[in-house]
Amino acid sequence: MASYPSLRDRVVVVTGGASGIGEAIVEAFALQEARVVFLDVHDSAANQLVRKLEGAGVTPPIYVHCDLTEAAAIKASIEGILEQFDTVDVLVNNAGNDTRHSIEKVTSEYWDQVMAVNLKHQFFMAQGVIPSMKKAGRGSIINMSSISWVIPSTGLPVYVTAKAAIVGLTRTLAHELGAHNIRVNCVMPGAIQTKRQEELWFTEEYKAEIVARQALKRLIQPHEVASLVLFLASDDSSAITNQNFVIDGGWV
Ligand SMILES: NC(=O)c1ccc[n+]([C@@H]2O[C@H](COP(=O)([O-])OP(=O)(O)OC[C@H]3O[C@@H](n4cnc5c(N)ncnc54)[C@H](O)[C@@H]3O)[C@@H](O)[C@H]2O)c1
Repeated sequence: MASYPSLRDRVVVVTGGASGIGEAIVEAFALQEARVVFLDVHDSAANQLVRKLEGAGVTPPIYVHCDLTEAAAIKASIEGILEQFDTVDVLVNNAGNDTRHSIEKVTSEYWDQVMAVNLKHQFFMAQGVIPSMKKAGRGSIINMSSISWVIPSTGLPVYVTAKAAIVGLTRTLAHELGAHNIRVNCVMPGAIQTKRQEELWFTEEYKAEIVARQALKRLIQPHEVASLVLFLASDDSSAITNQNFVIDGGWV
């Protein structure tokens, strides 16, 4: 893995960092000697990750329990982080939930719930950290979207809607914040082999379909997404903003 001197001691906040792609992102930033805080609700997985990194000879990340669907919890978490670190240099809006749902079964409440867990917190996390980024005159915000709104996806229409909206959010924030040297980019993963995907959706049939649709004939791993996120967070990508990066082994 590349080493980014500009990430050393940077304050990095990762949402949904306890498992899956977020876990790989937390680990990758910790190995760059960044000061990492991650928000999640999965306490046992989060504590396990902290213990693992404590044993890796790096500054261990700090876990904050935060239900990102609760505006008050987001506010309190950001206040706590700013009290401790004074600033946030990098925000990775990663948390999401791709539970399947049919068109017929989506109620008004369910729509709001899916939007809350996939979209709303990305805005309010950004809103919370932007003042400190403006004060510092720099920042990098990375929003996790998905290729699901580009490929012919079925079975999760509200999730797909949220993931498309994240691209719009990214692009307007990039223009709102560019004058303050705050960069905003979007990452669109394809089918990434996380524990949850393996447990819930990756049947042998689906894996064969993924590999058939990709140019690369293997499953893409969480740490490969983390590598892209590191680059977008580092000063090595200092001129890159307002962009969407597909990382899917060549599916799209
Ligand atoms: N894995 C893939 O194939 C894939 C593909 C495209 C996009 N993505 C996107 O990447 C991101 C990470 O996905 P993943 O596959 O690693 O998912 P995951 O389910 O493995 O991890 C998501 C993390 O978010 C946390 N989380 C969920 N709801 C939360 C809430 N209300 N408050 C706080 N934390 C919460 C979970 O506890 C979990 O630790 C998501 O935005 C997802 O949409 C994933």
